[in-house]
Amino acid sequence: MNIKHFTNHDESSAHVAQYIFDRIQTKIGESGTFVLGLATGASPKLMYQNLVRLLGESELDLSGLHTFNLDEYYPIRQSHPNSYFQEMYRSFWKPLNELNPTFEIPNGHILNGENPKPEFECRIYEKMIEKAGGIDFQVLGLGVNGHIGFNEPGSSGTSRTRMIDLTPETREANKIYFGNDLEKVPTNGLTMGIGTILESKEIVMIVTGEKKRDLFQKLEQRDTPTEEIPASFLLNHPNTTFYSDLE
Ligand code: F6R
Repeated sequence: MNIKHFTNHDESSAHVAQYIFDRIQTKIGESGTFVLGLATGASPKLMYQNLVRLLGESELDLSGLHTFNLDEYYPIRQSHPNSYFQEMYRSFWKPLNELNPTFEIPNGHILNGENPKPEFECRIYEKMIEKAGGIDFQVLGLGVNGHIGFNEPGSSGTSRTRMIDLTPETREANKIYFGNDLEKVPTNGLTMGIGTILESKEIVMIVTGEKKRDLFQKLEQRDTPTEEIPASFLLNHPNTTFYSDLE
């Protein structure tokens, strides 16, 4: 496992943001395009602030930058204040477009949690990623139960984008975003599959928060993947780095 340790979250966030910025600058310079996979949640929030500032204040032409989010609740309206659509609009797409209008908001893609045909939605999403040339760089956070995206324990390492039942742990962990009311947390999610994620050319996982300490230790001790800890499938990926601010 390739792990980089940091003493605090500010430092690791700034470091990841600078690293991704450099990657985008290089590839946009060479080919004009970059496909960035994004996660929602607390772990990448500060990194996004840094990255939006770096990209926003740069002279880069970002018209070839596309972003694809990992997942979305299901069912949920895109206009719901807690949809991942709204989270990304607030924290990434809109502020970036305001600072550097060459980034076009419609180039920020996310699974649509209000499509009445979720299987169709997932198939189209895979096609869109493929058409964009595949994901150059994927950002991940670590779920308290080891999930990546909404790939809950038991997910296969070859799974594709699909609808999934959220586990009680995940709904419990996310209820703070729904006024601490478990009833309001959607029961399902749409998520890129583990197989889909592993096709990314490069992956960074941001590991932060005391609640992840034991789990991350378990992950560090493994050398083979297990369906019980979906994040362990990253051991099969040739270019993944874990950025941890846990001592
Ligand atoms: C969100 C996602 C999830 C989170 C994970 C950690 O798009 O894919 O897998 O990354 O649940 O969440 P935080 O960062 O809030 O601890």
